[in-house]
Formats: sequence, C-alpha cells, structure tokens
Amino acid sequence: MDAIKHALSLGSQNAPREPTTEEVSDLKGQYTLAGQSHVFTFYDSLPIAEKAALFKQLSAFDPIYINKIAVKAISPPNADDGGAKETVLEPLPESVTASILDDSQSADVKKWRSSGLDLIAENKVAVVLMAGGQGTRLGSSAPKGCYDIGLPSQKSLFQIQAERIRKIEKLASAKANTGVKVTVPWYIMTSGPTRGPTEGFFQKHSYFGLAPENVIFFEQGVLPCISNDAKILLEGKGKVAVAPDGNGGIYNALVGSKVLDDMKVRGIEHIHAYCVDNCLVKVADPAFIGFAASREADIATKVVRKRNATESVGLILLKNGRPDVVEYSEIDKATAEELDPKQDPKQEDVLRFRAANIVNHYYSFRFLESIPQWAKDLPHHVARKKIPHINLKSGEIVKPEKPNGIKLEQFVFDVFPMLELSQFACMEVDRKDEFSPLKNARGAGEDDPDTSKRDIMGQGKRWAIKAGATVVSEEPESGIEISPLMSYGGEGLEELSGKTITAPAVIEVE
Ligand code: UTP
Repeated sequence: MDAIKHALSLGSQNAPREPTTEEVSDLKGQYTLAGQSHVFTFYDSLPIAEKAALFKQLSAFDPIYINKIAVKAISPPNADDGGAKETVLEPLPESVTASILDDSQSADVKKWRSSGLDLIAENKVAVVLMAGGQGTRLGSSAPKGCYDIGLPSQKSLFQIQAERIRKIEKLASAKANTGVKVTVPWYIMTSGPTRGPTEGFFQKHSYFGLAPENVIFFEQGVLPCISNDAKILLEGKGKVAVAPDGNGGIYNALVGSKVLDDMKVRGIEHIHAYCVDNCLVKVADPAFIGFAASREADIATKVVRKRNATESVGLILLKNGRPDVVEYSEIDKATAEELDPKQDPKQEDVLRFRAANIVNHYYSFRFLESIPQWAKDLPHHVARKKIPHINLKSGEIVKPEKPNGIKLEQFVFDVFPMLELSQFACMEVDRKDEFSPLKNARGAGEDDPDTSKRDIMGQGKRWAIKAGATVVSEEPESGIEISPLMSYGGEGLEELSGKTITAPAVIEVE
C-alpha cells in the first residue's frame, strides 16, 4: 500500500524522480515472491523517466493477487470435477418474464412505459454506458462510440445515444408537465485506452447538446496481460502490457470512482446499463424501467429471441435454480434444439431456450450499493488474444500472428447467480427494434457498420410507413434515418402522414 501511495506522488511530479534503491528493492521483493521478477529484466538500463513510469505501473498491482486470479481463471474451481455435480438448466419461469412480442401483454407494456416516464420525470433514472472495450475486431483507432456507421447524417454512436437521452427527457417532461427540469445523468465508463479520446470527442461536439455536468466519465481498471503460463507480459522494456478488466469491471469502477455517491446525491433509484456498440439501444427505455420497477427487481435484463438452435449467443436462464448466463458452447445439441411445449401452434417454431443475452440491464440503486459486499467474489475469465510483447532475451518486440497470451476479464453478468430468482426479471424485446451490435469491420457482412446502418434506416422506414407515409425508392433496401430528436421509439411522427418520401432519406428536426 505504501508503494502505491508513493507511486502516485511520483506521478504527480513534472520531472519524475528516480525511485530509490530501497523502494525498488522492496517492490522487486514482492514480484520475486510471486515468481514475476522478470518484469524488472530491463529496469536498470532504462532512462529515469521510464524507470519512474514502470515503478508506478508495477506498484499499482499486487502480483500475488494477479497470480491468484490468473490461476483461478485458467483452471476454474469446478471445471474438472468430471461432471460429478449435475447442472440443471431451465428457462426462466413466467413469473419473472415478460415479452414485448406477446400482443396479450401490450396493455402492460403501455402501463410500464407510462410509469417509467414518470420515474424519469421525477429525476430518479440514470444511464450507465459501458464503453471501455478496445474494439479490436472493428479495428478503428478511435473508441467505438466515435464511429460513424455511415448514416446520411454521419452521426456517431455517441451522438445517437445522446440524442435519445435528450428526447426521453423531453417526453418525460412533457408528460409530467410540472415545469421541473428533467435530467437523465449519463455515466460513461471508459478505460485507460478509451478515456482521453472519448472525453475529447464529447468536448469537440459540445456534449451533443447535453449539459456537461450531466455527462460523467469514469474509468474502469486494467489488469496485466499474461502468457499462457501466467507470467506477466511486458509491452516494452519499461511497460507492462495491460488491458481493461472486462465489462464486469463496471462494479468496482462504480464504487471506486464515486459514481454511486453522485447517484445518491442526485436521488437516483433506477439505472439502465448498456453497451456502446448497439446502435438500436433504447437508452433509459421507460418501458423497461417501468417493468423492472413494477417487479421490484434488483436486476432486470433485456433479451432477444435466439434466431435458431445454432446461433452463437449466450442464453439467460436458470442454472441450478439461479439466474445465470450460459454460453452456447455449454449447451448440448438436443437441449439447444428443444421446442417450447407451450408455444402457440400458429407460430413458427419457438425454442425452449431462446432468451439471448444482449448485455442490456436494469439495476436498482439499492442493489448497486451492495457492490462492496460481493465484487471481490466475481470471477475472472480467460480471453486468449494476440498480445504484442518484448522478448526478454533479445529485447525485441514480438507481434504474434495467433493468440499467445491471456487478458483477464470480469463479465458484467457474473453477478446474476448471486441473486434470488425473486430479485430478477427479464423482458424479451424485438431484435429488429432494439439490437444491432457493431462488432466487426466493414465487409464482414454481420454485426458490422453496414448492418448497423441498415438496421437504423430500416427502423426509420417502418416508423414512417406506420405514421402514414409512402416510401418510394429505387433500391428496396433503402431506408430512412429519423433523428432521435424527432422520435424516440416511433412516436410523434404524425406530420409524415400522407407524405411521399424518397429513400434513402434523413428526417431531422427543423
Ligand atoms: P465486447 O466484449 O464486444 O468488446 O464489448 P469490444 O471491446 O467492444 O470489442 P472486441 O472484443 O475488442 O472486438 C461489449 C461491450 O462491453 C464494453 C465494450 O465497450 C462494449 O460496450 N467493454 C468491454 C467495456 O466497457 N470494458 C471492457 O473491458 C470490455
């Protein structure tokens, strides 16, 4: 701990001070004890500034703890119990689920939307954005949220989300009609690599019309990258290779960066948390907030219907009686193909296990306040990646062509099994209206910028037609971009009735 405090003070100097021999020997002792002393291989040959920087970086980690979580992640405690304990998987029971796709629930959805809007108008709702990922598959050098998916307006994902927040504040304010200013604070989780460029992007774009004091950036932690035999990798002679600690890093970050304190001061009771890369995300969706609040849930989650038995998606279900997420690879073929015996015979085949995880969650504030009691129990997972590193013998940089090491990550949903079923709720939503993730570079044909653009413009076209417009186009695929400032979820488009729109088109507020 002393070493950490000291490292911070070293970092606060303009001209870095070389750590003393005693300080270095102390820190080296800790790393030697943990079998990680190789991180000092080049230390003596470094210029003073790099010595200070490496000392600071190494002081921020406890190497014994890194070893502990690495060993647990590489060989999870019950991975090799030979299947002795049988795992029982069941779909979530109807008592905790609802579906927007089920017409018989439309009156409830209306009620939830209305009560959710009231909660927003009472300034009890906040949103938390997970934007700390490095977006390696997309391959853009800027954070994913800055990405222009090719809409006619050239809006970035951040701008689309900001405008949805502005619109929902307006809708809630109009419904309540109390004259009280409605604010949905936006807490944006970044990481070491994404913080600077994310904040810079917001400043450059004047926070997309939001008040800067209601856009709060906070940073998740990083962990050292390790080799397959759990040795810490060096990115350079004076730098440890590090990576963000996964989207589950959100929990420690919410506490450590005092986001929860800020929420408390603001009187927040309901939180919507989502991923930056879903261009269709309904930020602070009142129907979802109202649904979760009416069930008095501590965590609620949105799911979409799994397309078919072979789709590679995680499923939200009950595992040994607890809410959980199970990866597609953990489910056998017969279970994946099982049909729901209760399905409407008129409908196409509905899978029994169909609740696909889209990492779109509701939290009650009271639950987030309990983070310090359980965050230390969240496991770390192994993500095998290509990690550039220094060869300790030659001192040369190695740029691997295939995965050579491990990033240690926590998953945001690993908290689910800590809940009783009664604390959990799940809402099935329509994929075409709510889920289109940006994962891959253009040209992949799936979850890429073109599919994001197609899905936003396809939605706009459906909204325009529903509002009574006629849409003509040379290409049947051409759609309409409707500004979130104009419509949050298809409402308020009466003025399009009777109009003929030539797609592709963009409809902005005047
Ligand atoms: P992904 O797991 O898809 O990762 O993140 P990614 O960084 O976007 O893309 P790849 O895997 O490197 O190609 C899902 C969501 O979780 C966030 C991401 O920003 C995204 O919103 N995330 C991921 C974090 O906030 N922190 C992390 O450490 C990892």
